[in-house]
Amino acid sequence: MTEKGPMRVAVLVSGGGTNLQAILDAVDQGRIRNTEIAAVISNNKDAYALERARRHGIYAVTIAPSGYESRASYGAALKEEIDRLHTDLIVLAGFLVQVPKEIVEAYSNRIINIHPALIPSFSGKGYYGLHVHEAALKRGVKVSGATVHFVDANLDEGPIILQQSVAVEEGDTPETLQRRIMEQAEWKILPKAIDLIAAGRVSVDGRNHVIIRE
Ligand code: GAR
Repeated sequence: MTEKGPMRVAVLVSGGGTNLQAILDAVDQGRIRNTEIAAVISNNKDAYALERARRHGIYAVTIAPSGYESRASYGAALKEEIDRLHTDLIVLAGFLVQVPKEIVEAYSNRIINIHPALIPSFSGKGYYGLHVHEAALKRGVKVSGATVHFVDANLDEGPIILQQSVAVEEGDTPETLQRRIMEQAEWKILPKAIDLIAAGRVSVDGRNHVIIRE
C-alpha cells in the first residue's frame, strides 16, 4: 500500500506577506495539518514575503512578468515552476497578478485566493489591497470581511469556501479597517481553508457551490 505524503502547497505573493506568515505559523503550530509549503513564488523581487519565506527555510523565487516578452511566456514559465514542484494546491496570498489561464485550466479547483471583502461585494477588477477598503468605507457599509474562494477564469468569481464578517467602526480609515479584517478574518480563514483541503473535506458540487464535509 502506498501512503500519500503531505499536500504540497505553492504560495504566490506580491507584497508584505502577512497572510503567508499566518500560514507558516499555522503549519508550525499544527493548525494546518498534513501540508508542506513547497515554495513561495513572487512576481515582485522586492516583496517582503520572500524574506519571510527564506527565513523560514522555504524555497523562495521571483518570476516577474516583466522578464518575459509576452503574457503567454510568463504564464508558461510560472506553470513550469509550479509543475516542477509537484504542487497539489496553489494559494494566492496577496498575489496581485491575474493567474494566467493555462494555470487556471491545469489546476481547476486547486487554486485558492484570499480576498479582503465579502464577495461579491467590492470584488473584481481594480478591487485589491487598500482600494477594497476605501470602496467599502465610501459606500458606508457596516460590515465587511474576507473570503477564501477557488480561482476560476473570472476574477474573484470562483466557488466560495469560507467567509468571515468583520464590523466597520466609526472613524475607520482604509488602513485600520484593513488591519482589523486581516487580524479577525484573513489570518484565520486562509489557514483554516488549507487545513480543510488537506484533510480532503472540501469539494465543489454541480452548482459550483462548495461543500465542506464534517
Ligand atoms: C491582503 O489583504 C489580501 O487579502 C489582499 O492583499 C493583501 C495582501 O497582504 N489581496 C487582494 O486584494 C486580492 N484581490 P499580505 O501580503 O500582507 O498578505
